Amino acid sequence: DLGIQDFLRHHIRTVPDWPAPGVQFRDITPLLQEPQVFRVLIDAFVHRYMGRALRPDLVAGLDARGFIIGAVVAYALGVGFVPIRKKGRLPFTTVAQTYELEYGSATMELHTDAVQAGDRVLLIDDLIATGGTMMAGRKLLEKLGAVVTEGAAIVDLPALGGSQRLRDTGLPVFTLVDFK
Ligand code: PRP
Ligand code: HPA
Repeated sequence: DLGIQDFLRHHIRTVPDWPAPGVQFRDITPLLQEPQVFRVLIDAFVHRYMGRALRPDLVAGLDARGFIIGAVVAYALGVGFVPIRKKGRLPFTTVAQTYELEYGSATMELHTDAVQAGDRVLLIDDLIATGGTMMAGRKLLEKLGAVVTEGAAIVDLPALGGSQRLRDTGLPVFTLVDFK
């Protein structure tokens, strides 16, 4: 829907040269700040996932901005929420997955009892760039036997190829706004 895409795009701020020179950072905080805009954003996800076919058993959110969207969507769908966190933050036993960043690597963790084998899980983040973060989250959920039904984000940066790479591995991907 081009109408909603342009409405949301208008409320995403582009910050040049952050966090490094040459990066155009797509800042979603203005989307959250205006109540009417926040509601349109959340309702776009809720509308997609509340139907019988796509309704998950759980929502998993990726640290850190995926928590903001994912928890609210889970609440609205009436399902539970589980956080996938950067290494060293979760207190109970965890599974871990390392992934590549532009410079170096990082590790994400998930509590071993966060999902049950066979759970259908919707994975949510704010943005897909290289897709490395979402792929790591998917691997963590699959290590515990869950099925990731879709990866969802507000923003896709298609030029970085992440959403296509995720689709090429068989993961359906749903995003609301592209920045070419
Ligand atoms: C950003 C963004 C996604 C990820 C996307 O998080 O919120 O989680 O990068 O990049 P990728 O598709 O190339 O993996 P960031 O690493 O800045 O962490 P933060 O949420 O803790 O700020
Ligand atoms: N915004 C938020 N997170 C990001 C971005 C961005 O533009 N690029 C890579 N991760």
